[in-house]
Amino acid sequence: SYYSEQYRPQYHFTPDSMWMNDPNGMVFHEGEYHLFYQYYPDSNIWGPMHWGHAVSEDMVNWEHLPIALYPDDNGYIFSGSAVVDKKNTSGLGQDGKGPMVAIFTYHDPVGAANGENDYQTQGLAFSNNNGRTWEKYPEPVLKNPGIADFRDPKVSWVEEFSKWIMALAVQDHIEFYASTDLINWEKTGEFGQEKGAHGGVWECPDLFPVKIEGTNETKWVLLVSINPGGPQGGSATQYFIGDFDGKTFSTTQNEEKWLDHGSDNYAGVIWNGIPQSDGRCLFIGWMSNWLYAQKVPTQRWRSAMTLPRQLKLRKINGNYILASAPVKELETLRLKNRVLLVSEVSGYTLIPTANISVMQSEMLFNFKQNKEGNEFGIQLSNKNGEKIKIGYSQNNSELYIDRTEAGTANFSDEFEAVHRTKYIAKQNLQFHVFIDKASIEVFVDNGNAVLTDIFFPGVSYNKVELFSTKGSTKVTNAAIWQLSSVW
Ligand code: FRU
Repeated sequence: SYYSEQYRPQYHFTPDSMWMNDPNGMVFHEGEYHLFYQYYPDSNIWGPMHWGHAVSEDMVNWEHLPIALYPDDNGYIFSGSAVVDKKNTSGLGQDGKGPMVAIFTYHDPVGAANGENDYQTQGLAFSNNNGRTWEKYPEPVLKNPGIADFRDPKVSWVEEFSKWIMALAVQDHIEFYASTDLINWEKTGEFGQEKGAHGGVWECPDLFPVKIEGTNETKWVLLVSINPGGPQGGSATQYFIGDFDGKTFSTTQNEEKWLDHGSDNYAGVIWNGIPQSDGRCLFIGWMSNWLYAQKVPTQRWRSAMTLPRQLKLRKINGNYILASAPVKELETLRLKNRVLLVSEVSGYTLIPTANISVMQSEMLFNFKQNKEGNEFGIQLSNKNGEKIKIGYSQNNSELYIDRTEAGTANFSDEFEAVHRTKYIAKQNLQFHVFIDKASIEVFVDNGNAVLTDIFFPGVSYNKVELFSTKGSTKVTNAAIWQLSSVW
């Protein structure tokens, strides 16, 4: 099967073949999680964009469906969102049932090539059979006011204001639009020129309320992807925590906040339509970076999505953070497991993983910091001496992934790097790690920080070592699971 190629993820979403970028149109409806995605079916590099489509009952096992949206005379189908119009506010439903509605960006390549500035508009399509086939609305529902970067509408129903709200990325800020029927849109506000990181163009926004964990208080979160200008170079996703009054978003936040501290999580948004009884904010991102996405050494397909994650809002020492934790559905992947008998490491200590294959595994390690200026963590390596290291430096109060010797990197000058982030650890530090052939996702302290990186070793990593460079570090919990393939 195609899914047995060397770098093909076994439990992450990838298209059967060819190029994929952003997740789009994520909506839950009648027991199905829909995932659409930026797709070019004719090549393994970016090109005229379509919306690919897949469905899942658990965000883990996926069924590929035919392409949902093809480019047309209005242009390529760029990123956007989908909703279920339950009350048929659009009038586009059938037999007393509301339609599924997709709102996306039309990118007119001719206008773009001619140097015009109004080539991105927002289009609409609807489906009356659970997204299996789509009909396009005859003309764009939001015209371009003369700004080249005008894209990636995220639409959702906001009960509090009884309105459809759209967040739209407009060059260096986010604009908000409101509608009662999904077809007529009125601009209500703008946010961002004076806030956040501005090293690149703003893309793929998302706006949603989240309960602060352990309280009944709700804050609004605004996700904004930015390319370039991310903290690890290239593309990355920043977030803001604040308030939304039905018209615009505001925040007192002055510092930059990043959703992920690795290099490979971009353009992610959350699912619409999650029932209140569930109430989770469920997220997926594109597990690559525009710096090198089109050059990574895969052939039949390019790019995977991140693991599905639950976003949680936490207040830690008076400071809000948006945490990312792997969704509990991922536990169904666990096959054999081993509790590892290790209680203390000093120097490099080999961890016997027996017959568990590291390249398709989940690991959990709890470290207890010693008092010295130590550095400790996990190293995965192979017989060629290629290795990837994740660790914590007590001296620098930094988490890091070091992929400088991880494997093939000749496709880009910017791939070999150490990705670091400041992190104030308590005495105990937990690394919850997912490895899937060519990617690592490290969830620290139940998601208080996450680092996502891709890598391409010549042969599989088969050796797991824990390290503690200065003095010894206690390990209070250590386990590894073999994970099953979903393909
Ligand atoms: C983000 C992005 C979006 C755009 C899409 C095009 O990765 O550049 O802004 O809609 O990709 O494929």
